Amino acid sequence: MNIAQLQQEILRLKKEKDVCILAHSYQAREICEIADFTGDSYKLSVDASKADNQNILMCGVRFMAETCKILSPEKTVVLASPIAGCAMADQMDKALIEQVKKHYPNHTVVAYINTTASLKTICDVCVTSSSAVKIVNRIPNKDILFIPDCNLGAHVAAQCPDKNIKLLNGGCPIHACVTADDVAKAKALYPDAELLVHPECVPAVCAQADYIGSTSGIMDYAVKSDKKEFIIGTEISIAEHLQYMCPDKQFRILSLKLICPNMKATTLVDVYNCLTGSGGEEIVLDSDVIRDAGRCIDEMIRLGE
Ligand code: 13P
Ligand code: SF4
Repeated sequence: MNIAQLQQEILRLKKEKDVCILAHSYQAREICEIADFTGDSYKLSVDASKADNQNILMCGVRFMAETCKILSPEKTVVLASPIAGCAMADQMDKALIEQVKKHYPNHTVVAYINTTASLKTICDVCVTSSSAVKIVNRIPNKDILFIPDCNLGAHVAAQCPDKNIKLLNGGCPIHACVTADDVAKAKALYPDAELLVHPECVPAVCAQADYIGSTSGIMDYAVKSDKKEFIIGTEISIAEHLQYMCPDKQFRILSLKLICPNMKATTLVDVYNCLTGSGGEEIVLDSDVIRDAGRCIDEMIRLGE
């Protein structure tokens, strides 16, 4: 089978087996093409919960599949590539944060959605990169413990000056590798381009951006903008997808370090194998984890409205 035939077979099988395929925007183009929904981590889990299908196949990373399971406990949720974790979500576990919380007993614990389901059970509210500022501003408590990403946390703190935000030393190793020097080099090469970055980048990079936002935010901004050239400061697939969406514009990659190996673990063959029952991993969570992590996500939805 060639790629086109494999895609046709996947489309046939997903219909026959009542499967809704989700693809995060960091996935390769050929995977996004066969997905029912594409987008950022939060949008995908909401899309999955509203879909009629009994089965959800997540082409993304583990915390995203867990979020789908928490929002749709009655559905079967499968992670297409069982090795696709998230280097940031795996940095901090429940035991570590239980210890940290003892030092900050009066702080509201805000967890980036890039955390494990187990860790979410002891946090007060989740945020996504697109909703973090709005949600932190709406939390009545002044004292906030923001985990795990200190770069997103610094971005939030700068925009919520009334809050006392405690950060830990976590973050995305892919985005955090990009330096101000990389920005200077890209701007020298593409002087007319606007710089669009994800808030997981370090503050010295974010400070030079024309726009800071989530993967969906960056894509919306670039599509709607009158500008013709952009340097994309997030995973390189976003630049590729945008180039197909807007062939009359030019999308430059800020740094070749911006390749997430976990996001690139999923292949079209993995998707096919999941649909034929010989691949993937079903996400199984204890009912108390679903209940307690669900509280944290429900609070995000309530405060984010
Ligand atoms: P989004 O929530 O913007 O999709 O980001 C997920 C992610 O892993 C960014 O590195
Ligand atoms: Fe996790 Fe970073 Fe990969 Fe996003 S880019 S999935 S935060 S490791």
